Amino acid sequence: MNSMHARSPFSVSVGGSLFFGDSLDLSRIRALADSIIRLHRAGHSFILVCGGGKPARNYVAASKRLGASAFVQDELGIALTRVNARLFMAALGSRAYPRVLESLSEVPLALNAGKIPVLGGLLPSLTTDAVCALAAESVGGRMINLTNVDGVFDADPRTNKSARLLSSVSYDDLLKLLKNSGMVPGQQVVLDLPCVLVLRRSKIPAFVLNGSDGKNFEACVKGKKFKGTRIG
Ligand code: UTP
Repeated sequence: MNSMHARSPFSVSVGGSLFFGDSLDLSRIRALADSIIRLHRAGHSFILVCGGGKPARNYVAASKRLGASAFVQDELGIALTRVNARLFMAALGSRAYPRVLESLSEVPLALNAGKIPVLGGLLPSLTTDAVCALAAESVGGRMINLTNVDGVFDADPRTNKSARLLSSVSYDDLLKLLKNSGMVPGQQVVLDLPCVLVLRRSKIPAFVLNGSDGKNFEACVKGKKFKGTRIG
């Protein structure tokens, strides 16, 4: 591990589909919050960015049917990511900064106070993965994307049986994979273009792993062997 990054904060993207699905998966939220509390106690620092999941998709779709603009649809999506962030903060208790942050400029203040800043989305047209990369960039940190697949694949595993999980991939190869997959984030490349461009321009080390395995997440944070994809 690069010594500059030895104890830099991890900006963690808490995948909406996994943690805030059809019904709220409280055992999963509890398990991730407990892992983060343990790691925080051991001296690791975190920024958490919560995705919108099913609640956000419902509101975005409903507002679209009612004639809302893309901007308003996104504003509703952001509002729901912030509701999820508030819920996640409840599981973190006093370790969380006591307010959902709405600006990245407040992140260093929260970190310096020894707290875990929790955010949702920030700006229409972005996603929480892009916000997570920007949060990592703003503090010289690293990014972890916790999602519902094991990492980045060399082909789409839904259509290609020989698709392989990549244990590491360069920023440029990831961009190529994204381009070949038609820029539609899916099961092959879970990150979107703005997110990957931020990672590349600042050479941010990033990891994609399945958020349902807490032990694996802890291994990744501790710099141990883990299952998933290392980017950069
Ligand atoms: P997500 O980041 O969760 O979107 O934000 P996603 O990638 O579609 O979600 P998953 O991971 O597959 O479940 C939810 C919605 O909130 C709005 C967008 O409308 C997005 O679809 N959003 C989020 C923004 O407009 N800006 C942001 O910064 C974040």
